Amino acid sequence: MSPAARLVVLISGNGSNLLALIDAIARGVLHARIVSVISNNPQAPGLAHARSAAIPVQIIDHRNYAERTHFDAALADAVTPLAADLVVLAGFMRILTPTFIGAFTGRVINIHPSLLPRHPGLDTHQKVLDNGERETGATVHFVSAELDSGPAIVHAVSAVNTDDTASSLAMRVKLLEHKILPLAVEWCCTGRVVLRDDCAFLDDSPLPPGGWRYSQEQQALAKDI
Ligand code: GRF
Repeated sequence: MSPAARLVVLISGNGSNLLALIDAIARGVLHARIVSVISNNPQAPGLAHARSAAIPVQIIDHRNYAERTHFDAALADAVTPLAADLVVLAGFMRILTPTFIGAFTGRVINIHPSLLPRHPGLDTHQKVLDNGERETGATVHFVSAELDSGPAIVHAVSAVNTDDTASSLAMRVKLLEHKILPLAVEWCCTGRVVLRDDCAFLDDSPLPPGGWRYSQEQQALAKDI
């Protein structure tokens, strides 16, 4: 049996997506090991999840670096010796430059709370409401130099109800995030999903622009992730 893939997870906040990964590994549906959790925020509440699971934690406080590229270089220096198969941005609220991304091309993925390419950046749920959109969701994608861009791997859709608020949407979309992030990570770790020629492939077939669509009906195919 091949050794479990090595994950490095980057967080800035609550870490509920980190917890979803820890939980999927514990349930045996995600075949990976989180070798380190790195945060730019020393106070990130999500660090408690890592510590409870005995995962080594590193803090690289961006406020100690005058330039974004210096922070990215320090981050790359921390990640390189960890021999990560995959770097997962799970609520990591720093924009990464090619200094970091270039060093790990095809091995960095991000989760974003919208149906990309709609609504990159912050306040996605309010933007959905302001635009009167009828559906929203979350997307996991390979990270490229542009913010919240890069080939999509998987997305999940939620309807927007007339009485929804930004916080009710955030709560509902979060539940979907906790499904699709472990799924995308598992696919990357097992080599089912790869980045090739700037395009995401699943089982050697190019994925559609928004990535594979996760739905409850298809959940069975995802083997209970
Ligand atoms: C998530 O909504 C994720 O999509 C976005 O940041 C948030 C992180 O939430 N990139 P958590 O810290 O995992 O709870």
